[in-house]
Amino acid sequence: MPPESEQRLVIRRPDDWHVHLRDGEMLAAVVGHTARQFGRAIVMPNLKSPVTTIRQAQSYRDRILSALPENTGFEPLLTAYLTDTISAAEIAAGYGDGVFAACKLYPARATTNADHGVTSIALIKDVLETLQRIDMPLLIHGEVTSPQVDVFDREAVFIETVLQPLRQDFPELRIVLEHITTKDAVDFVLAEGANLAATITPHHLEINRNAMFEGGLRPHMYCLPTAKREQHRLALRAAATSGNPKFFLGTDSAPHSIAAKESDCGCAGIFNAPFALEAYAKVFAEENALEKLQGFASEYGPAFYRLPINDTKVVLEKQPIEVPESLQAGAELLRPFHAGASLPWRFAGAA
Ligand code: NCD
Ligand code: ZN
Repeated sequence: MPPESEQRLVIRRPDDWHVHLRDGEMLAAVVGHTARQFGRAIVMPNLKSPVTTIRQAQSYRDRILSALPENTGFEPLLTAYLTDTISAAEIAAGYGDGVFAACKLYPARATTNADHGVTSIALIKDVLETLQRIDMPLLIHGEVTSPQVDVFDREAVFIETVLQPLRQDFPELRIVLEHITTKDAVDFVLAEGANLAATITPHHLEINRNAMFEGGLRPHMYCLPTAKREQHRLALRAAATSGNPKFFLGTDSAPHSIAAKESDCGCAGIFNAPFALEAYAKVFAEENALEKLQGFASEYGPAFYRLPINDTKVVLEKQPIEVPESLQAGAELLRPFHAGASLPWRFAGAA
């Protein structure tokens, strides 16, 4: 029997620095999963009608708060969706008022609800100048969208052709390269200064691109950016468990109904919110790095965003937990990441 300390892990309450909470019935079905485990979350603005104004963000925030179960203490942090024509003054005012915590850059058509995204960085130079001046974080979906670029190369090509020049033009801009999937991204983040960080999802730590084709086409393993080769997964695991504060937790939990995923043109996104901490804990335990989980999950994100760390703590226990095959979301069903599997560490609530 191992000592009790090896069966129980108490860490500061973590935060999720990248999540899709959706709206309406889906919001009501998913927000409790995130609020159960995390103190705060950076909420993505890619609703069907994107969040581009202070008024829209306030109204979305109110809808999130009314959909929350009682007494979670959860705080949503809203983001502004950058378009070619968004007003820099509106963003600055929203940041000043504490309505927006960050701006989100989607290259146009890069992913779900990115049709209104930015078509060319040149068009938002004034916005980027403003962000740099007011020190407001820029969150980037780092993929080029050109059909000429192989889907598995889109992150690496983005880094080389878009992010590097952007860093040169705006060296003081605080940037989070989101949901990184490649060794190229890890190396780039390591080579840059402290004002560039990255989030890493649980699924990119667990699966490589084979998972999408295992015995047939596996739509529930499809997300954007897609999982890459095994060498990239290994680089992500090393980065996440290294204790380097440039890498922190962002689940990119992105629920789509089973029907929307299992279709001729299945949606991109993996729904990992219900067992997110369990999924990360499994990886950190496998890497013999559980002592690094608190930094990754609860400390480095707040440090980058210049927010206090949470003052409460949560418990993880070495007790297997079974992940259900599906979860109800209004009239729809959702399939969680790790569906049907058993995870070795379970979230056991507040300490
Ligand atoms: C996200 C979604 O469904 O909103 N999908 C995904 O695969 N991650 C969008 C995104 O973050 O790319
Ligand atoms: Zn996302």
